[in-house]
Amino acid sequence: MHTVESNGAKIPVLGLGTWQLNGSIGCRITEQALKLGYRHIDCALIYGNEKEVGEGLHASGVKREDVFITTKVPHTELAPGNLERAVKQSLANLRVSDVNLLLVHWPNPEIPLAETMGAMARMKREGYARHIGISNFTVKLIEEAVRLSSEPIVTNQIEWHPYLDEEKVRATCAEHGISVTAYCPIARGRATGDEVLTRIGKKYGKTAGQVSLRWLVQKGAIVIPRTSKVERLTENMSIFDFALTPHDMAEVDALAKPAGRVVNVGWAPNWD
Ligand SMILES: NC(=O)c1ccc[n+]([C@@H]2O[C@H](COP(=O)([O-])OP(=O)(O)OC[C@H]3O[C@@H](n4cnc5c(N)ncnc54)[C@H](OP(=O)(O)O)[C@@H]3O)[C@@H](O)[C@H]2O)c1
Repeated sequence: MHTVESNGAKIPVLGLGTWQLNGSIGCRITEQALKLGYRHIDCALIYGNEKEVGEGLHASGVKREDVFITTKVPHTELAPGNLERAVKQSLANLRVSDVNLLLVHWPNPEIPLAETMGAMARMKREGYARHIGISNFTVKLIEEAVRLSSEPIVTNQIEWHPYLDEEKVRATCAEHGISVTAYCPIARGRATGDEVLTRIGKKYGKTAGQVSLRWLVQKGAIVIPRTSKVERLTENMSIFDFALTPHDMAEVDALAKPAGRVVNVGWAPNWD
C-alpha cells in the first residue's frame, strides 16, 4: 500500500470512506475492503456505524497493527470533557484500544480552539490516538490550529475533487508539513459520469471515477472513496497502475468551478 508521510505519521494513500454504510452493509463492506487490501478506514462517531465498522474490522482477519484507523470528534463535542467522552465512545464502538488518527470533525466557533487542541493533544499523550489532525479547516483556521497545538497536526481532511479548487488549503498544509485527505473524492458519484474524466480514462482503460481519484493522488492527497458495492471496492483501489500526464492533469484542473462544493452543512465555516 502506498503511503503519505506527514509530521511523523505514515498514512495509506487509499482509505475506505464509511459515511452512510450503516447496519450490516457497514460490517460487510469494511470486512471485504480489508480482505481486498484496503489498509485505512475513515470513521466518525457521528456516522453512527462505528460498531458495525469495528465488527467488519475484527471479522476481516487482518491484524489491527496493519490497519490505519481514523475517527473524528463531532463539532458539538469539542469542549475538553465532551471530547474525551466522545473519543472513549468511539474506541468502545470500534473495539480498539486506540486509533491511528483522531480528527476534529468540523471547527466550532462557539468552543475556543485552544481548549479543543489542548484536549486533542492530551488524547494523543494519554495513548488514545497515535496522531491528531483536523477536518474542514480553512487557511486561517489551519494557521490557528498549528499555533495552538502542542502536538503535530498530521492531516487536514477536506472536500476535494475535480470540481473544487483547493490549492490555497493544500499549499498552507504543505507549508506546515500537513497532509491533505480528500473526502468526497469522486464528488459523491458525480465524477463518475463526467465526460472529460471518461475521455481521459479511456486512454488508460480506466473509469472516470478512477481518473478523479488518480488526479488527487498525483496532487499528493490521501483519498477515501466510499462505496456500498463490493465490486466497486476493487475499481476504486485500482488507481496505482497508471499515471496522468501533465496535460491530463491540467484538463482535470479546468473542471473546478466556484459552486463545485457538494457538501453544504449549516455549521460549515466561511470558506473564503
Ligand atoms: N470530514 C468530513 O466532514 C467528511 C465529509 C464527507 C465525507 N467524509 C468522508 O469521506 C468519505 C467519502 O466521501 P462521500 O462518501 O461523501 O463521497 P464519495 O466517496 O465521493 O462518493 C460516494 C458515492 O459515490 C458512489 N460510488 C463510489 N464508487 C463508485 C464507482 N466506482 N462508480 C460509481 N459510483 C461510485 C457511491 O455509491 P455506491 O455506494 O452505490 O457505490 C456513493 O454514492 C465518506 O464516506 C466519509 O468517510 C468526511
